[in-house]
Amino acid sequence: MNNNRQIVAIDGPAGAGKSTVARRVAKALDFAFLDTGAMYRAATWRAMRKGIDLDDAEAVAASTREMDLDISTPDGVTRVTVDGEDVSEAIRTPEVTRLIYKIDQNPRVREQLVRLQQEFGARRPTVAEGRDMGTVVFPNTPCKVYLDASLEERTRRRAAEMRAKGVEVDETQLALEIRERDEQSQRRATSPLRQAEDAIRIDTTAMTLEEVVAAIVDYARRVL
Ligand code: DC
Repeated sequence: MNNNRQIVAIDGPAGAGKSTVARRVAKALDFAFLDTGAMYRAATWRAMRKGIDLDDAEAVAASTREMDLDISTPDGVTRVTVDGEDVSEAIRTPEVTRLIYKIDQNPRVREQLVRLQQEFGARRPTVAEGRDMGTVVFPNTPCKVYLDASLEERTRRRAAEMRAKGVEVDETQLALEIRERDEQSQRRATSPLRQAEDAIRIDTTAMTLEEVVAAIVDYARRVL
């Protein structure tokens, strides 16, 4: 039995446009949308809130196990609650982003979150985005996409996003941070970011959002 028949798995580095694209693809196919980065962010936020030493792998894993996590996309925006508290904004602060690498390389945290992600996908047709959707979480789905874009373009997009929120940006510094996160994701021992062998690669550098969404929707309709 193939439990992954109705899964679109989207992976790629920070700033490749995964979230926006995945959300739009989900809407077009009438699938649920799963932002798995938000789950690693939630685990990081909770450990920080509890004052846990983020280098203490055991304590962080225990905190993640105790976490009451709810994730939904009621209006196209990901809403995340942890232990009943809405943390949708709090999990996106630069402080969480800076410290998340300590949590996302913890095998016992990954084990728990991967299980939650698989349960989510087993219940409904889903577009899931992250770093290991095609390689680890949904290896059996025939619909895997690896989204990429040049570092310059990814920096430009992230800067535009931040400026739209009224945040001042130093693009040179931002490019360095994005590259550092790429390296952290690709080099970590547990579930490093890489393209699954059977994934299609889409370089979005010179593509519009509409073109990328259309390419994935077409592909999903063909293979799912
Ligand atoms: O996509 P994002 O920026 O919200 O992801 C936050 C962090 O979580 C990112 O540094 C990589 C990590 N992550 C991961 O390790 N595995 C996933 N499936 C999704 C995100």
